Amino acid sequence: MNLRAPERHTLVCFGATGDLAQRKVLPSIYRLHKATPALHRTAVVGVARSALDDKAYREKVAAVLVKSGVPGEGARAWCEQNLFYCPIGEGAHDAFAALGARLEAIERDMGLPGNRVFYLALPLQAFEPTIRCLGEAGLHRARGWSRLVVEKPFGRDLASAQALNALVHRYFDESCVFRLDHYLGKETVQNLIAFRFGNSLFEPLWNRDRVERVEITVAEDLGVEGRAAFYEEAGAVRDVLQNHVLQLLCLTAMEPPAALDGDSIANEKLKVLRSMSVFDESSAVLGQYAAGELEGKSLLGYREEPGVPEGSEVETFVAVCTRINNWRWHGVPFYLRTGKRMPRKLSRITVVFRSPPAAVFQPLVVCGMACNRLEIALQPNEGFNLTFQVKQPGEGMRLHTQEMRFRYAEAFGPLAEAYQTLLLDVMRGERTLFVRHDEMEEAWRLCEPLINRPRTLLQYPAGSWGPARACTMIDHDGQGWTHQ
Ligand code: BG6
Repeated sequence: MNLRAPERHTLVCFGATGDLAQRKVLPSIYRLHKATPALHRTAVVGVARSALDDKAYREKVAAVLVKSGVPGEGARAWCEQNLFYCPIGEGAHDAFAALGARLEAIERDMGLPGNRVFYLALPLQAFEPTIRCLGEAGLHRARGWSRLVVEKPFGRDLASAQALNALVHRYFDESCVFRLDHYLGKETVQNLIAFRFGNSLFEPLWNRDRVERVEITVAEDLGVEGRAAFYEEAGAVRDVLQNHVLQLLCLTAMEPPAALDGDSIANEKLKVLRSMSVFDESSAVLGQYAAGELEGKSLLGYREEPGVPEGSEVETFVAVCTRINNWRWHGVPFYLRTGKRMPRKLSRITVVFRSPPAAVFQPLVVCGMACNRLEIALQPNEGFNLTFQVKQPGEGMRLHTQEMRFRYAEAFGPLAEAYQTLLLDVMRGERTLFVRHDEMEEAWRLCEPLINRPRTLLQYPAGSWGPARACTMIDHDGQGWTHQ
């Protein structure tokens, strides 16, 4: 990991009037500029189709910043000094040439060294024409370095991801490409590396001899929230399983990297993905939420949500049981699950250790024997719980499960926003927390059988933990998922 200071640059944000840019990207850039003296007087150029000028765009962004808690005067002054706008049509070559001229003029006026970050906060279908026009207009051939940031979803399946990678590589070397998965920017996710490789306590236990199973859950209580058009094209497999969940699995299961640089970590993650068989319907459950209830509130079913076509076959839930066929994990089931309209927002990795050989307790009546569990809470209540057995005071041998707890908020206060962490890394050229092209393609390979073909879709009531079949897929000693 390199912690060098970021260099001054021009950040060109495509999709600058969209929800992602306004809610996440621009407020994070503002905070980074304020916190990092090296970024003083660095340009941000918003690019979108709306016919705005600099003044109108600055007012729009200042209002967004104020809404996110920035004092009005500070927001307006920052926008005035650093922010520009350039309207552009999708795939319009002349417009990209004009954008190039505008970038040069801004760089000259602000005395910038000609480094450029191109941030694609765009819907998937706009990636291809934007990268093509940007490349053909030569915007990436600046005086300094040029970096490309691409949001997820990177492709719709393996073939489209391969085609997109080929296009990207026509103009950008892989070392300059930052495929963004915001889960990798979460402190708790980064901490998986510190936790696993910075402590000698757990690593000897982290294998098939000691671990009975691993559960990874990314659950949301929200539904599609007005994003039906996007979600109809995505579904839970493309939206969360292929990226966030598989990245969590890789960081949980990978071997220690040779160093903490982007390629060393990507090499290890890739080995994990390559050691897995493709997901198929026999080991997966796909679901869609029907009408239900949560905390006394009635909830619509997915097919009744505004913008969702009647009879939609898009999955809002997926659970998979998979295995990693390597020396460390052979035979250990990894249960993965993600869904919308579940009982609460919860992202957790639970490592369930094998039961102790109970023979020692045999002559006694033992009550309450349970496995040790390590629970990594990614959100909310970020931290860890380790459960262990103690004797309940009194007669007999009654075992009781107790917990050791660590909570980030108690130890360190509030955590930084993932986008801020990731944007700073882009500005530094640090790729540890981004996804390499081959990892991305491998993750699509695994998910391929669950998309692009007819599947069985089970309904589950909104506000529940998914279809009954998914709830019972873990049936070891009658135990189910840790959270249900
Ligand atoms: C996004 C998905 O990548 O992640 C959304 O597109 C999902 O559908 C979101 O709601 C979840 O992110 P977080 O950080 O709130 O867990």
